[in-house]
Amino acid sequence: MEKIVNLCKQYGFIFQGSEIYDGLANTWDYGPVGVELKNNVKKLWWKRFVQESMNSYGVDAAIFMNPRVWEASGHVGSFTDPLVDCKECKTRHRADNLISGFTDKINPDTLTDEEMIKYIRDNKIPCPKCGKSNYTDIREFNLMFETNRGVVKDSSSLVYLRPETAQGEFVNFLNVYRTARAKIPFGIGQIGKSFRNEITPGNFTFRTIEFEQMEHQLFCKEGTDSEFYKQYKEKAMNFLYDLGIKKENLRFKDHDKLAHYAKEACDIEYLFPFGFGELWGTHNRTNYDLSRHQEYSKKSMEYLDPETNEKYIPYVVESSVGCDRLTLAILCDAYECQTLESGDTREIMHFHPALAPYKACVLPLVKKIHSEKALEVYNMLCKNFMVTYDESGNIGKRYRRQDVIGTPYCITIDDDTLNNNTVTIRDRDTMEQVTLKIDELVNYISNNIKF
Ligand code: GAP
Repeated sequence: MEKIVNLCKQYGFIFQGSEIYDGLANTWDYGPVGVELKNNVKKLWWKRFVQESMNSYGVDAAIFMNPRVWEASGHVGSFTDPLVDCKECKTRHRADNLISGFTDKINPDTLTDEEMIKYIRDNKIPCPKCGKSNYTDIREFNLMFETNRGVVKDSSSLVYLRPETAQGEFVNFLNVYRTARAKIPFGIGQIGKSFRNEITPGNFTFRTIEFEQMEHQLFCKEGTDSEFYKQYKEKAMNFLYDLGIKKENLRFKDHDKLAHYAKEACDIEYLFPFGFGELWGTHNRTNYDLSRHQEYSKKSMEYLDPETNEKYIPYVVESSVGCDRLTLAILCDAYECQTLESGDTREIMHFHPALAPYKACVLPLVKKIHSEKALEVYNMLCKNFMVTYDESGNIGKRYRRQDVIGTPYCITIDDDTLNNNTVTIRDRDTMEQVTLKIDELVNYISNNIKF
């Protein structure tokens, strides 16, 4: 992970948040290539889950929602982490993380708070900071960030930063049903920021306090829910395979303990450098969410079946993935350090071309002679794709710089370009070169970056 963190910082994928002030724990900023990668992740998710999914509609709901939403959803009452304080060094830790860091024989999700603290004390699990084992009892700590709106700070001005985007989809169920004249089964998808006051063990962008989620809720009729649940698990896995993530690094993991609203729940886990970790959740949420919103808002959440005239509150199958966490999995999975025949090493990000921050880099062989023509080619290509331009250093070093940020094609402009309008285009993975006419470039790249 350290290698990935350093590479991300060095080449402009991800920087520590507020770095010049020594950072703010668990916040990260995406740099010039990182933001392109992350935007591509979002674009491809939207394409698969909204654009190419029949009867699927997008929304972009407000981050601040009426606090009643979070009462109805259960977050005010039970969106908590079990925390203990070390009495010696005063640091705070998640009790479940202390146990899972100590042993893989016990799943802390299956233990009550009392059982967890007993296990920690019986086994004298050391504090990760000071090494002693002297903890307070467990307290349940709500993960929602609170703030106040308006000028008066009192209980009526309290609002939360949303801890998930899903509720924006549930509260817009009626709006979408009505305005899109949607018929069940139909889906609502959304991409947006969520916020959680997480106490975390680090692990880069795996768990942060501010992150983007890509969530899709499929509204369906009771009885069809389990079949859709199976389909959506597969749909998520196939999307990850199509992004080029190695199959051996992915696995399904059913939840040992179901959340109060879930009938079925399963994660896709990815093998991060620190071990398997949750990447993507699929949940059969039954009609819990819409029923609760009906109860709290007093608005009917019933769907009227136009064929049978039957009225019912739809079931929901949720597919939910963190964009930052998926971007991290893509970075870990794509990285390779090759040793070449010459003995040199070459670091490469084998991104799917559709994910690559830049689709191509334009390189004049000799700056003084070829840069004018190279800029012409660059200006033509940048109207079609994200491309970059590099005229400094020897050509081998310039290729390496593009390999490490995952640029699939390097286009070299040389004397042949000046004489007969041909360029050489080098493939990142095979390092093979082909010669093309300048006016064939847009088609060539377009055909090779499809998703
Ligand atoms: N609406 C359901 C929901 O929010 P979740 O399992 O809490 O479920 C879904 O979150 C996904 O969001 C996770 O699988 C993970 O990819 C991402 N995620 C959750 N908490 C995160 C955090 N603190 N930092 C980064 N990503 C997070």
